[in-house]
Amino acid sequence: MISVVLVGTGNVAQNLFQALERTAHVKIEQVIGRNPEHLTFAKSKAPINSNFDAIPKADIYILAVSDAAISTVAEKFRDLNGLVVHTSGATSIQALKHCRNYGVFYPLQTFTKGKIISFQDIPICLELHKENDCELLHSLGESLSNNVQFINSEERKSLHIAAVFVNNFTNYMYTIGEEICTEKGIDFKLLIPLIKETANKLDVLSPLKAQTGPAIRGDQNTLHNHLKNIKNKQQREIYTLLSNAIKNTHGEKL
Ligand SMILES: NC(=O)c1ccc[n+]([C@@H]2O[C@H](COP(=O)([O-])OP(=O)(O)OC[C@H]3O[C@@H](n4cnc5c(N)ncnc54)[C@H](OP(=O)(O)O)[C@@H]3O)[C@@H](O)[C@H]2O)c1
Repeated sequence: MISVVLVGTGNVAQNLFQALERTAHVKIEQVIGRNPEHLTFAKSKAPINSNFDAIPKADIYILAVSDAAISTVAEKFRDLNGLVVHTSGATSIQALKHCRNYGVFYPLQTFTKGKIISFQDIPICLELHKENDCELLHSLGESLSNNVQFINSEERKSLHIAAVFVNNFTNYMYTIGEEICTEKGIDFKLLIPLIKETANKLDVLSPLKAQTGPAIRGDQNTLHNHLKNIKNKQQREIYTLLSNAIKNTHGEKL
């Protein structure tokens, strides 16, 4: 049995809580959050606490708090013997360097409080300060997911940048698509099968091979027509920047 103290009340903490609660060989010793009102999701299911000076003993302390708060919160855990991990893609393991035993437990997925998802297929990227905690952290990862890997801070930083491109920027493209549809009274949901197929194609094709559209075809007429019709200056700039980037990447084909 692995005993865990979960720190945080946000998107990741709430998703992790639900997943850990269902895991037979994990015991949630406590959920800690600075604001008692934000702990209701765990109330009556696990002990809750808002006092960072009364932390119980545990094998692993998971700090699922904002990136900017990780090192400050970690100060409260510096004299404990358990393994202290953060869940951030963008933060170095060094943010926990004052703790006795520390590491990273980064689930590579997008989480939102109101939408609880399964961890089964989520890659969990681990990093450890001391190798002797390897079995413990790996075992926690495997209790949640089929895809657990050790990845160092440098690799994780690059993975996180890539994740911003494929997730956050792509979602912003959906936002522009929705704005364009709404302006003309068109149902944005008409585009959802296209969005899904674009992602599904990546099971069998590399993104480079899967690229389609007027920029890769060198279809100047369509590109100019689109630009004439886009009234919003920022949307026009993004359209031009991305079309040029596609042309440059696939230049040899034009
Ligand atoms: N969301 C994602 O998709 C995602 C995916 C993978 C990894 N991560 C990483 O997971 C971590 C948590 O992200 P999140 O999306 O769950 O953030 P979030 O929803 O904004 O929640 C942040 C949590 O940190 C707490 N907190 C902030 N400052 C604090 C402080 N000074 N002392 C104590 N607690 C403090 C907040 O407490 P209050 O409720 O009191 O404000 C809240 O519980 C981050 O490191 C993030 O990079 C996020």
